[in-house]
Amino acid sequence: MKKIKISPSILSADFSQLGKEINNLEKGGADLIHVDVMDGHFVPNLTIGPPVIKALRKYTKLPFDVHLMIKPVHKYIKDFANAGSDIITIHPEATNNLKESIFHIKELNKKVGVSLNPDTKINVIESHLSNIDLVLVMSVFPGFGGQKFIPETINKIKDLKEIKDRNNFSFDIEVDGGINFSNSKDVISAGANILVSGTTIFKENNGDIQKNIEALKSV
Ligand code: DX5
Ligand code: ZN
Repeated sequence: MKKIKISPSILSADFSQLGKEINNLEKGGADLIHVDVMDGHFVPNLTIGPPVIKALRKYTKLPFDVHLMIKPVHKYIKDFANAGSDIITIHPEATNNLKESIFHIKELNKKVGVSLNPDTKINVIESHLSNIDLVLVMSVFPGFGGQKFIPETINKIKDLKEIKDRNNFSFDIEVDGGINFSNSKDVISAGANILVSGTTIFKENNGDIQKNIEALKSV
């Protein structure tokens, strides 16, 4: 059986204790740490930038899965790489030249992800699929945690998995937004192998991170 990874989003963590929260995520069995970077322009919310990622780097050895919701993204990629990101994910709408931005991330020796908004079709990124490490399928419109999962996402994941298998591509399929205990099985069977979750990880079962991670992984 394929290995499912959980990438908890620190957007739902206690921002006054992020170091401790990241520590708890690692102890609870997280595989990656999902960092949502928002600029109040590409998305209607503001979060954190490279100095905070740099400060958090020493709290865990887990890879930082950095989701950039900022536009223009290209000129900031280097700062996020230097801050200690391991995977850098960008949205095609946030760069003038997706190919250049993908190769910029690669030349900085980071894994590259490309994200699909709920209304962005797979064909927008199809010619890049052989060059990327991860596709982040958004199952909500980016900007806020705690939103409701958009069910049409399931078919998009299935289509992407079909393209992946047909071409023998190796990218991970990560899904982000509104993931809970009832839809996790559906996204996994559709073909996703990394689940992002903020609200479910931090709030369900009185915040029992380990229990919530295990429950999301169980199929
Ligand atoms: C949305 C973010 C997500 C989101 C996940 O813009 O990219 O990472 O916060 O949080 P939940 O699991 O609460 O939807
Ligand atoms: Zn995200």
